[in-house]
Amino acid sequence: MSCRRGALIVLEGVDKAGKTTQCKKLVQALKESGRPAEMMRFPDRTTKIGQLISAYLEKKSNLEDHTVHLLFSANRWELVPLMKEKLEQGISLVVDRYAFSGVAFTSAKPGFSLDWCMNPDVGLPKPDLVLFLQLHPAEAAQRGEFGTERYEVGDFQKIVMQKFELLMKDPSLNWQVIDAAKSIEDLHAEIKTHSETAITMAENQPIGELWK
Ligand code: TMP
Repeated sequence: MSCRRGALIVLEGVDKAGKTTQCKKLVQALKESGRPAEMMRFPDRTTKIGQLISAYLEKKSNLEDHTVHLLFSANRWELVPLMKEKLEQGISLVVDRYAFSGVAFTSAKPGFSLDWCMNPDVGLPKPDLVLFLQLHPAEAAQRGEFGTERYEVGDFQKIVMQKFELLMKDPSLNWQVIDAAKSIEDLHAEIKTHSETAITMAENQPIGELWK
């Protein structure tokens, strides 16, 4: 490697935890402190695969459950060459949702094992840090109604949360669980500290492979 690579930083959490706000604030703060950073999000609704997913989430179309799971995964894989290029250029990527959402949401459906759900994402670039924004369902409810997209249903989100908890037990990943009930600024400060440490640690390491 000719230059220090960037870090892959993923933000996960149930809906309403404030992931998108925090991703944006983190990218801005990293840039201001002289660390190149860019935001990405999954699903990336701009690609052809992303448009199929978006129509499904907006309930404009129906897709078979296995099929949509594989589309979410394919939507990550199609961005892998770009992700690797950016990381190798020294740009840290701050990613709003990744394979963990993929597994948590599909395995919350009846008949899907965690293992089956993980398989298509095995070998993706491995995050150097996974920040999980933890929010109690009662707190999430206080933040207003869910939207109208598929999956934005309280009971389903509770099962999703349980699946995330199973994934967090994996010691091969750098999970950091953060209390999202804090103020936006306090949460940001905590996220920034974890991210700076991860960026320093990742600098001289090769990009890993997820779940391998
Ligand atoms: P968004 O609101 O952050 O755009 O997320 C879209 C929805 O898609 C959200 O309910 C989580 C869900 N999802 C999956 O089911 N599988 C995935 O792989 C990802 C990334 C998101």
